[in-house]
Amino acid sequence: MGEREAQGEERISRREFLKLMAAAGTVLSFTPFIDWGKFMPRAASGRIEKVAVELPDGTQANVKTFPTNHAETVIYPKTGDRVLDQEPFRVWKIVRLPEEMGGASNDASAFRCYSDVCLHLWCLWNYFPDEKKKRGECPCHGSIYDMRTGKAIAGPAFFQSPPANLLPRLDLEVDSQGYLWILPPTFSLEKNGIIGFGRFEKGVNA
Ligand code: FES
Repeated sequence: MGEREAQGEERISRREFLKLMAAAGTVLSFTPFIDWGKFMPRAASGRIEKVAVELPDGTQANVKTFPTNHAETVIYPKTGDRVLDQEPFRVWKIVRLPEEMGGASNDASAFRCYSDVCLHLWCLWNYFPDEKKKRGECPCHGSIYDMRTGKAIAGPAFFQSPPANLLPRLDLEVDSQGYLWILPPTFSLEKNGIIGFGRFEKGVNA
């Protein structure tokens, strides 16, 4: 572990850790057992390569056809096993930002891909494209997420301390034909984040 990552982990307060454990106890009683060892991509288990952003209809997302101010659900990492692929911690939302937020660009900057697991108590949030919203909202207790950054801007997740106020994200790439790809993530707090717990990003959490 790098020095920076170690510092990041030290910033998790005991209170936040206990809260996470409490949340885990609550949620895991309602969700199938998650085999974390199989779930998290590991460099040691083989070479991790970029994978296509596969939409629910089985096609690969493309900047030429993906509407602005629109979101789709993406499963990552996908196993091909119907039950495993329904685990909430594999669910992500890919969002093409509204035009006024930069969504008109024909490159990866127009897109965001965030974990769909709310940072409060792990419900799945939804994207609301309505003119007055254009944001992510959790149906359980009303946490609201800014799609430009993934930061909670209202609701209980907003009041949580960093890193538990910023959604984990996947980094994207667009190829010469406009197809979208997910770059290999590093699931640490200082990089792509930890699903269900959060992410540090300098200048964004605070
Ligand atoms: S679980 Fe999302 S606001 Fe509580």
